[in-house]
Amino acid sequence: MTDAAGRVQELSDAGLRALESARTESDLLEVKGRYFGKKGAISEILKTVASLPVEEKKRIGAAANEARAALESAFDAKLSRIREQERVAREGKERVDVTLPGRAPAAGRRHPVSRTMGEIIATFQRLGFSVRGGPEIEKDYYNFEALNIPKDHPARDMQDTFYIDGMGGDLVLRTHTSPIQIRTMEAMRPPVRVIAPGAVYRCDSDVTHSPMFHQVEGFAVDRSATMADLKGLLTEFCRMMFGPELPLRFRPSYFPFTEPSAEVDIRCVICRGAGCRVCKTSGWLEILGCGMIDPSVFGFVGYDPETYTGFAFGMGVERIAMLRHGISDIRLLFENDLRFLSQFQP
Ligand code: PHE
Repeated sequence: MTDAAGRVQELSDAGLRALESARTESDLLEVKGRYFGKKGAISEILKTVASLPVEEKKRIGAAANEARAALESAFDAKLSRIREQERVAREGKERVDVTLPGRAPAAGRRHPVSRTMGEIIATFQRLGFSVRGGPEIEKDYYNFEALNIPKDHPARDMQDTFYIDGMGGDLVLRTHTSPIQIRTMEAMRPPVRVIAPGAVYRCDSDVTHSPMFHQVEGFAVDRSATMADLKGLLTEFCRMMFGPELPLRFRPSYFPFTEPSAEVDIRCVICRGAGCRVCKTSGWLEILGCGMIDPSVFGFVGYDPETYTGFAFGMGVERIAMLRHGISDIRLLFENDLRFLSQFQP
C-alpha cells in the first residue's frame, strides 16, 4: 500500500534530518529511539501492515529495512563526527600554552634560629675562631665520661637525655656541643681556638626549653689562656651581638668539666629587668655556661695540664634569638607558622 510506504519514506527523511541536526551523543540516541529503534515509528508501522496481502507486506517490509539501514549508517557517521568534535574541543581546552609567563615561587627566608646561628658563628670567626662539627648521635664517652661526668654522677641529672638502645650500646642524642671539645682535642694539638655549632637534645619542654635546640660551643687551649681572657672575649661577643648598652653579668656556677665555672646572664629583654615569666621574675636571662677547662679533662685527651690551660663556653642559640627579637615562647620557633616566621628579615 502506497500509504504505508509513503509514510516510511516520510519517517526516513524526517529521521535523517533529525540526525543531521543532532549536536550530542544523547541527541542521537533520542532520535534513534524515536524513529528507528525497537519501539520507533518505523517499527510501529510494520506492526500495522500485518493484515495486508503478502506482496504488499513484502514491499513495505523492504522499504522499511532500507530506510532503517540508511538511518543506521547516517547514525554511525554522525556519531563518529560528534566524537571527533568532542575530542578536538577537549584537546583544545587541555592544550598547554608554553608561551605563558611562569609563576614565581614565593621567596623564602632564613629561619630566625639559622640566622642567629650564622651571626654567632660570623662574630666568633672575626674574633679568630675556626668552626668544627660533630655527630648528633654521640657516644656516652664523649658526651659524658670524657667531660668528667662518670656514670651515676649526679651531674647527669642536669642533662637528662634520650638514650639509644642497641647499635653496640652507649649511644645518646648529644645533650650539648661539649663533646666536640674532646673530639677536637683528640685531633689537634694546642693552640686551638674552635667553635662548634649544632643541634642538641634534652628531655625538657616549657616556655624556655625545647627537647631539641641549638648550641654554639667555643673553646681555646694555649700556654696561657686565663679566666680574664674568657671574660673579655664573652663581654666583647655580647657587645657585638646585643650592642654596648645591654647589661650582662657573670655568675659563679658549676659544670663537671670546667673549674672555676660561670654563667653569663643578660638583662631580660622582654621585661627589661622588671621580672616576667620568661626570666622567671629574676630580670635576668642565662645565655651561656663557661669556665676554665678542668685539668682532668686534659687527662682524657693527652694534653699536659702543667703546660696548657684552656677555657670553654656553650651558648643556647634559641635563647639568643629570643632575646634579639623579643620572642616570649621558645616553642614559637618550632611550630613553623608562617605568620610568625615571616615577621623576620629575609
Ligand atoms: N655544655 C654546657 C651545657 O650545655 C655548657 C658549657 C659549655 C659550660 C662549655 C661550660 C663550658 O650546659
